[in-house]
Amino acid sequence: MTGGTSGLGNALVRLLCNEGAHVAFVARTVRDVERVAGDTGALGIVGDVGRKDDIYPIALQIAGGLGGLDVLVNNASSLGPAPLSLLADTDCEGLQLALEVNLLGPFRLTKALFGALTAAARAGRSAMVINISSDAATSAYSGWGAYGASKAGLRHLTAIWDEEARAQGVRLLSVDPGDMDTPLHAAAVPDADPATLGRPEDSAVEIVERMRPAAPGAKARAFRP
Ligand SMILES: NC(=O)c1ccc[n+]([C@@H]2O[C@H](COP(=O)([O-])OP(=O)(O)OC[C@H]3O[C@@H](n4cnc5c(N)ncnc54)[C@H](OP(=O)(O)O)[C@@H]3O)[C@@H](O)[C@H]2O)c1
Repeated sequence: MTGGTSGLGNALVRLLCNEGAHVAFVARTVRDVERVAGDTGALGIVGDVGRKDDIYPIALQIAGGLGGLDVLVNNASSLGPAPLSLLADTDCEGLQLALEVNLLGPFRLTKALFGALTAAARAGRSAMVINISSDAATSAYSGWGAYGASKAGLRHLTAIWDEEARAQGVRLLSVDPGDMDTPLHAAAVPDADPATLGRPEDSAVEIVERMRPAAPGAKARAFRP
């Protein structure tokens, strides 16, 4: 789980640990990683998925610490420019940040862990990559250009990779968790009424349902993109 110390990622780490899964999570802030690791028993890894040099150390700690990997959730995300800005007012670094964290990071981490996922599939387990998307991937919201472009890229990358990885038994899914009351949402829309937003804990329950292997003989499940 990337981004396991806050919002949706934290709710997923807690839920999966409660279900008895062996979980590793990644975030940049050392004290938050230590706190969540201490609270949950999950393996906490300090790293920045937007930094190329961090990817192999993260991947090695995940695969080594867990002894393999069945499910990778690319959840950590950056808004790019914060506060959000119109594209004409967005500098290249703002767009680059969104692409590095939201598109290149998941691409690099998935590549680095693909061998572990194919090994899980060969062992008969349900091997899967869940990439957390957004309605900004498909709707042209003014002010969300860098974030929306990065999420649109991630969504399409996921769809293509899912076709390509079928032969190896690895599924890749994009999941839009809906608007949730989290620090990322507060940074993007500071005046939003929290009462109108979903709870990350509820989105986490839906996402964990998608991780469960289909019952034997069940028809293929449809996944909401
Ligand atoms: N909230 C919403 O309404 C909403 C709507 C649609 C989609 N989403 C998507 O849902 C996912 C979770 O969002 P959220 O709202 O739960 O976010 P959040 O509460 O802000 O949490 C983000 C988490 O990611 C970590 N993180 C951020 N940048 C990172 C980086 N470069 N490397 C490693 N870890 C990093 C953060 O810890 P550190 O800062 O310590 O690294 C934190 O643990 C994101 O993919 C987001 O785009 C959210």
